[in-house]
This record gives sequence, C-alpha cells and structure tokens, in this order.
Amino acid sequence: MDQESVIGLENLHKSFGETVVLDSVDLEIHRGESIAIIGRSGVGKSVLLKHVLGLLMPDSGDVWCLGTKVNGASLPDLYRIRARVGYVFQFSALFDSLSVRENVGFYLDNHTATPPADIDRIVDEKLRQVGLPDTARLAPAELSGGMKKRAGVARALVGDPEIILYDEPTSGLDPITAAAINDLINETKTLTHATTVIITHDMASAYKTADRIAMLHDGKIIFDGSADEIRATDNPYVQQFIQGRAHGPIDPLFIK
Ligand SMILES: Nc1ncnc2c1ncn2[C@@H]1O[C@H](COP(=O)(O)OP(=O)(O)O)[C@@H](O)[C@H]1O
Ligand SMILES: [Mg+2]
Repeated sequence: MDQESVIGLENLHKSFGETVVLDSVDLEIHRGESIAIIGRSGVGKSVLLKHVLGLLMPDSGDVWCLGTKVNGASLPDLYRIRARVGYVFQFSALFDSLSVRENVGFYLDNHTATPPADIDRIVDEKLRQVGLPDTARLAPAELSGGMKKRAGVARALVGDPEIILYDEPTSGLDPITAAAINDLINETKTLTHATTVIITHDMASAYKTADRIAMLHDGKIIFDGSADEIRATDNPYVQQFIQGRAHGPIDPLFIK
C-alpha cells in the first residue's frame, strides 16, 4: 500500500506578472518523511511552500494538504489546515514589540480559547523543547540569531503540528549554530514524528536533516531522490548546484 500522502502538488503553475516561477510542479510528500527542497535563491522555494498553506494560490493546478484541496478551500477549512501545520519562517519573523512568550503563544492567544495559564505552560514546554528554557520574558532583541530561529521553531510547535515546514532554517547562521539548528530539526522530528519539509540552499543542512531531496530549478522539480542518489546523479544542473560550482549549465549571473 502507498504511504499516506499529506502534501500533494499537481501540475502547479504560478507567475507574478511576466515572471513564471512555478511551471508545472508535481510533488507528493508522505506522512512521516523528511524532505529537503533545494534550489537557488529566487527559484521559488518560498513561493512553493506558501502554496501548501494557501498563503498563495496557484494560477492553475491543485494543492492538497492533509486531505483537503487548498485551492478553492473555504477560509474556515484553510484555518483548520494551518492549525495542523507548523511554519518556521525565514528570518524567524518574530514580532519585535512582543515578548518571547507572546510570540510563541501568539496563535493560542489570538485564535483559540485556551486559558492564559495553560498557554504559559505550553509556551514554557515548547521553549524547553527547543533548548530555550527561561526565555519567555525576554524580548526578541535580546536573542541571538540562533535563539531567534529556536523561538520560531517553538512558535511552530504550539499547535502540536502533524507537518512542520522550515523555510531556510540555517540561512544567515554561522556553521556551528547552523549545525545545532540541524540537530534541533532532527530532535524535533524524533519527538513529534511530524512530517518535515525543509526549504534550503544549504546542502550540509539538506544532507543532515532529510531522507529525500527534491531540487527546484527553472520552475520544475528536476530531481527527486535520496542523498545517495543525488550525489550519484549525472544531471549536470543538479551536480553544479550540490557541488557549488560557478561553471556549468546554470549561469550564476542569471536569476529569473
Ligand atoms: N508576492 C510576490 N509578488 C511578486 N513576486 C513574488 C512574490 N513572492 C515571490 N515573488 C518572486 O518569485 C520568485 C521566487 O521567490 P522565492 O520563492 O521567494 O524564492 P526562494 O527560492 O529564494 O525562496 C522571485 O522572483 C520573487 O521575486
Ligand atoms: Mg525563500
């Protein structure tokens, strides 16, 4: 029997004005797997991820998440899906004027009837889980870059999500802090069993966190396989990217 599909992108097309970003993307993600979606900056990784939650809608094609068709879903249905999916935003996207407690508990404070004392307890538990105990009263400005990423993960965990989407979780971090965030992604997976999707251009992170790697290039998924398979592929576009070479079929100066 096929593993249960929890995210499905079918013949997805998305353009902004003249710029074609997604040009027939097909991708199926199964419950419990860890997949990295790699590709150059500006290739459309974040755009792809935003379709999963209906933050962007396709021009054509279908997006499925947890059994619901996202395009065409009612707003209440979209909220129900979003409640079951954690989104760790690029740059952490914490509200500077709110404390760590208010940031991490934001969803529960504003979109549920959970009593504040229960939210305090849940926030403390999630902060401990991501290695940030006793930080609830701090302001985001008092956190280092790595700590901000951790707070972003804690915020994504408050709803006990079945799927966690990480957008560039290691970008902008030094290699040691990045390695610790990769460990956190893996520990979180072990603890929650959540299906894990990591958008990244950091191959070290992809190899460390994912059991499957898909590469987005020129609007399409041009590779989909294991880490061993991607290292062995003779696709010159994929090899140029994973080896980080300036010379090859991809023009380093051209980003569409
Ligand atoms: N809301 C938007 N409106 C117009 N253009 C957008 C929007 N979001 C993304 N884009 C464009 O789509 C392309 C892909 O962006 P993005 O998905 O952010 O790339 P990345 O792979 O670095 O995450 C870029 O050319 C970007 O400028
Ligand atoms: Mg992005």
